[in-house]
Amino acid sequence: MSDFMHEQVIVRRGARSGAPIIVAVHSTALGQAIGGCRIKPYPDWRDGLTDALRLSAAMSEKCALAGLPNGGGKTVVALTSDTDRRDALLDVGDVIAALGGAYATGPDVGTSPDDMAVIAGRTPHVFCRPVSAGGSGDSSEATAIGVVAALQAVAQDRFGSADLTRRTFALLGLGRVGTHVFRMLSATGARLVAADVDPTRKALAGSSWVSPEQCLTAEVDILVPAALGGLLTPQSVPALRCAAVVGPANNQLDDPSTAVLLHDRGILWAPDVIVSAGGIIHATAVELRHESPAQVTARLHAIGGTLTEILHQARASGTTPASAAASAAHSRFSSHRTIQ
Ligand code: PHE
Repeated sequence: MSDFMHEQVIVRRGARSGAPIIVAVHSTALGQAIGGCRIKPYPDWRDGLTDALRLSAAMSEKCALAGLPNGGGKTVVALTSDTDRRDALLDVGDVIAALGGAYATGPDVGTSPDDMAVIAGRTPHVFCRPVSAGGSGDSSEATAIGVVAALQAVAQDRFGSADLTRRTFALLGLGRVGTHVFRMLSATGARLVAADVDPTRKALAGSSWVSPEQCLTAEVDILVPAALGGLLTPQSVPALRCAAVVGPANNQLDDPSTAVLLHDRGILWAPDVIVSAGGIIHATAVELRHESPAQVTARLHAIGGTLTEILHQARASGTTPASAAASAAHSRFSSHRTIQ
């Protein structure tokens, strides 16, 4: 069998922007494919294509594990210094419109609810427009609520208590989601260090601020990756000094085999596809199912239960949490069991 498992991948030179617009639809087996629109510079646009392929496949697992009737997709725009962002967003809207509803987008690294409003000028298949424009708005706080639920589940599993005030954390990444996680953890009184590649984020972190290198290798209970993926590699794993890694960054492992390196070092790695599901859970609950805030909050907290279940399954079958999560996702693909 070929290793090309995506339903379709479109790479089109944007009519307005001239930028490579990449939309990868991994699967619509469970329903409409969803996944954010990432706009950032890449060394080469082909690196953006690789990112879109991996991120869209991860979205399929994320939706399946969150019990959503959706598949995975992703949009990537490889930004160059002379790309007009607004033109690129309109080009994205045109590509999504041409897919006729197979895929809907949302915010991701480098895009915001305001950008979703621009895309909405070309297609209705877009989540998280500002609330004032009829959407569910910024989903990053919901994502952070899911992250905290996952941290509590891991604290219970690993340290015998879900109480986060007794734990220490290293938070790597103070973007939209990371900032909410920082505030929520600080409010519990937990001890934490935090870092970002952008030095202007130091003002938020105050005395918790450390360099990204210090953060990655800090001696803490839990490392929380909340920035770009790919930070867990055969080079970085031996240097870690944490007991667990639990964060919302997508595609934290450079390669699936790195999960085994973490496992062999006795470091519990919570699959990012479970930890980061709060955004899609919130957006689809509000925009498609019109659920109440209490229902949405209950769904976000359920991320903790899902993670606990996967950790138990991994232990019972002697595998890594990563492979337990992958098999749980695949059994949902085949049984088509989703929430209504
Ligand atoms: N960035 C989100 C994620 O990776 C994408 C998204 C959010 C898509 C909200 C739709 C709605 O899960």
